[in-house]
Amino acid sequence: MDDVHAPAISVAGLGKTYPGGVEAVRGISFDVARGEVFGLLGPNGAGKSTTVGMLTTSIRPTAGSARVVGFDVVAEPLAARLVSSVVFQETVLDRSLTGRQNLELHARLWGVERAGERIDEIAALLGLSELLERAASTFSGGQRRRLEIGRALVSRPELLFLDEPTVGLDPRIRAELLDVVAALRDRSETTILLTTHYLDEAERLCDRVAVVHEGRIVALGSPRSLRAELGDEIVEIRLAGGAESALRTLRADGIANEDAFTVGATVTLPLHGRPSADALAAISARGLHPVAVTTREPTLDDVYLRLTGKEMR
Ligand SMILES: Nc1ncnc2c1ncn2[C@@H]1O[C@H](COP(=O)(O)OP(=O)(O)OP(=O)(O)O)[C@@H](O)[C@H]1O
Ligand SMILES: [Mg+2]
Repeated sequence: MDDVHAPAISVAGLGKTYPGGVEAVRGISFDVARGEVFGLLGPNGAGKSTTVGMLTTSIRPTAGSARVVGFDVVAEPLAARLVSSVVFQETVLDRSLTGRQNLELHARLWGVERAGERIDEIAALLGLSELLERAASTFSGGQRRRLEIGRALVSRPELLFLDEPTVGLDPRIRAELLDVVAALRDRSETTILLTTHYLDEAERLCDRVAVVHEGRIVALGSPRSLRAELGDEIVEIRLAGGAESALRTLRADGIANEDAFTVGATVTLPLHGRPSADALAAISARGLHPVAVTTREPTLDDVYLRLTGKEMR
């Protein structure tokens, strides 16, 4: 059913248990509005690619349901596939063809009207115009990624899935590619779902993010609202060791809440208006000596580390 009022993506209790028993996705639910840029954040093996696979009909769900632009991915897979495009973690370009030939091939597969015009438009948008007549094998990694995104856009999809679009790129090319996605976002014709490990990327590009951990969504909201849960200020206390026991002490003393966490030898403590001196005094009272102390605003990294770190298990 094509429903103009349907969300771009609607996921309810979606799950995937692979043959052999790996529960990659364990009942996730979320909606993505049209024109929204939605991020799935999570560590390796969290279930991000499996989720993208189910939404793009290449992986069959074992529980729940999902609709893209109103089409059920299991009951109406062809219609669901026609409204979306995906850029996979692995490349699918034909390296022996030129940039233009790669785009033409895709345009033919999708029966794109006025393909030449569309290709020129995309090349301009992605900064590929000068490169189009060269073989894709001569493109740099970043140029290839841009061509890959161009390929996905040729068919004028309502929905674009980007699975770790910037992984393995050097910082400059990564920044360039982020500009490309930001430009797509500003045109807001296309709904984008992207997966990433890079929190700065999510912060910059995404209207909302879902933090995925071991197949479940453990937080969902705008980057700003997720950060706000940790308050205005946090203190990061690096110790020579024994961060876990220091955190237990701070909790026992009523100085740390449930939202404090450790990463390696560092205790990260949202202050919620309490002076950081209280935490430091409690730590020295136990004979522990901080190696370094930093007070700063919470970042999305803090949210992510708290939710996907050891403390959760
Ligand atoms: N075809 C498969 N058969 C069995 N298990 C699989 C299969 N594909 C993925 N898995 C497992 O499902 C879990 C989730 O994998 P998935 O690729 O969805 O994670 P991811 O979040 O994309 O990770 P990464 O950040 O490393 O790309 C992992 O434990 C993985 O080993
Ligand atoms: Mg993946």
